[in-house]
Amino acid sequence: MRQTILVTGATGNVGREIVKQLSMQDVTVRAGVHSVITGENLKRLPGVEIVEIDFNDPDSLHAAFTHVDRLVLITPLSENQLQMARNLVEEAKKQRVKYIVRLSALGAGAEPGIQLGRWHREMEKYVEESGIPYTILRPAGFMQNIVNYCAESIKQESKFYMPVGEGEVSYIDTRDIAAVAVEVLLSEEHQGKTYELTGPEALSHQEMAMQLGEATGKKIDFVDVPEDAARESLLAHHTPAPIVEAILELYAAYKAGKSAEVTEAVQELTGRPPHSFRQFASDYHECF
Ligand SMILES: NC(=O)c1ccc[n+]([C@@H]2O[C@H](COP(=O)([O-])OP(=O)(O)OC[C@H]3O[C@@H](n4cnc5c(N)ncnc54)[C@H](OP(=O)(O)O)[C@@H]3O)[C@@H](O)[C@H]2O)c1
Repeated sequence: MRQTILVTGATGNVGREIVKQLSMQDVTVRAGVHSVITGENLKRLPGVEIVEIDFNDPDSLHAAFTHVDRLVLITPLSENQLQMARNLVEEAKKQRVKYIVRLSALGAGAEPGIQLGRWHREMEKYVEESGIPYTILRPAGFMQNIVNYCAESIKQESKFYMPVGEGEVSYIDTRDIAAVAVEVLLSEEHQGKTYELTGPEALSHQEMAMQLGEATGKKIDFVDVPEDAARESLLAHHTPAPIVEAILELYAAYKAGKSAEVTEAVQELTGRPPHSFRQFASDYHECF
């Protein structure tokens, strides 16, 4: 029988790419969106139905989970993400979901690790202890963060700013995370496994700036900034203080070269190499 797969966070960076790639498969895709207005684009994809969910409201989860066979569990980086993940796992248990693919983060397995990793590990445990078969995906930082957080200053000043020094990072393209998620979702053989996903190489932000420059035909500079300046900027954008500190801790790990690990998992799981940053820069050059 045709499987119904619920994707939560379906309008987010990874969720929308998973919905897009799953819509080409012989499954019914239920895109769980926070608001139908932001989910409007997903409706046009074949085999995709839209359902409104608020992760903070257990009542709203009931309809979304009805007749769902498999779940892609994505929650946002927010102050109450643990409660949100707990609500979603509890509903999956109630409605006898048969398989969960959880989007976590690289570093969730490190001890003591950093706060972002510890939060993710806590949420992984809800899934592991649910009794439902699961697979956990732990991606590195997303290449698309450069579009979301740096495109504006690149467009206006040909510069982008981060407190990461010369640290190298093995950023991954969200299209590759989605490709892995689809592969894993449609098979039984990945159940009980955890995969650490990275791009094909670790690059410094200076190297990334050079490649963005080549893709756009303009000189782009990366500017290393003090942590305090980054804190001020994040707070000015209304990021809650605990999240700001967690992000700064991640940047410090980048700076110290602790996020440069490269894995073969994308190649092994999808049969093709992950996108390079050069390819990403070329595909997204119009954003900059
Ligand atoms: N960014 C990175 O580099 C990185 C790296 C590794 C792991 N991760 C992890 O990957 C996960 C997903 O990241 P992402 O960038 O794809 O997320 P994202 O773009 O922030 O998307 C989050 C999604 O959740 C939805 N959402 C937010 N609050 C909701 C609520 N109360 N009820 C229902 N839906 C709600 C959002 O919808 P609206 O926008 O409409 O509210 C959005 O669709 C996060 O757990 C993050 O920690 C991120």
